[in-house]
Amino acid sequence: MRIVLASGNPGKLREFSALLEPHGLEVLPQSQFNVPECAEPHHTFVENALAKARHAAGITGLPALADDSGLCVPALGGAPGVYSARFAGEPCSDERNNALLLERLADVADRRAFYVCVLVMVRHPDDPFPLISDGEWHGEIGFEPRGSGGFGYDPYFVLREMGQTGAELAPELKNALSHRGSALRHLIARLPEWFAETPRTDS
Ligand code: IMP
Repeated sequence: MRIVLASGNPGKLREFSALLEPHGLEVLPQSQFNVPECAEPHHTFVENALAKARHAAGITGLPALADDSGLCVPALGGAPGVYSARFAGEPCSDERNNALLLERLADVADRRAFYVCVLVMVRHPDDPFPLISDGEWHGEIGFEPRGSGGFGYDPYFVLREMGQTGAELAPELKNALSHRGSALRHLIARLPEWFAETPRTDS
C-alpha cells in the first residue's frame, strides 16, 4: 500500500520508510504530489499533526502520515513546545533557538526537559478514527553544546543516565531511544489491525 508522508524533510522520509516498508507500506513524500505547506496554527502537537495528515490526504487521495514534535521544558510552562522550530522567531535557526533557551533557563534550577513526538495517520481526509501514537524522551538542558549529530536542541539535550547529549549518539541509538522512534514503534504495533478496520461514520 502507498501512503504519503506529510513532511518535506528528507531525513524523516528515510527514517519512516526504513521502518514502514517492511510492513508493506511504500512511503511517498508529499512533494511528489506538489502538496503545499500546511499551516500549523494549533497549540497542541496532536492538532497540528492531524491538520497536516488531513491536508496531505485530501490533496493526494492517499492515506497520510504526519508527525509533529518539539521540546517541552516544564520550568518554562512547557515552552518551546509546538513552537520549538520557531522559538526565536523568523528566520528559524537552531542556533538562535538554543541561545534563547539558555537565556530563559539562566536563573532556573530545574533544567529538566523532554522531547515529544505525535504521529497521526488517516486513511482519508474525513477519517473519523485516525491512528494516533506518541513518544517522549526525557533529559535535561546542559550549559555547553556537545556533539555534532542530530539537529535542533540535541547538542544541549543531556541524557542523565548516559552522560551524553542527543547530538553525541549514533543515529541508530538515537532512533532506538528517541521520542520519534518510540512513537513510530507504537504506531507500527497497531497499524495492521487499524488498516484492516473500515471506519464507520454511522452509529
Ligand atoms: P518538526 O516536528 O520537524 O516540526 O520539529 C519541530 C522542532 O522540534 C524541530 O525544529 C526542533 O527544533 C525540535 N525537535 C524535534 N525533534 C527533535 C530532535 O529529535 N532533536 C532536536 N530537536 C528536535
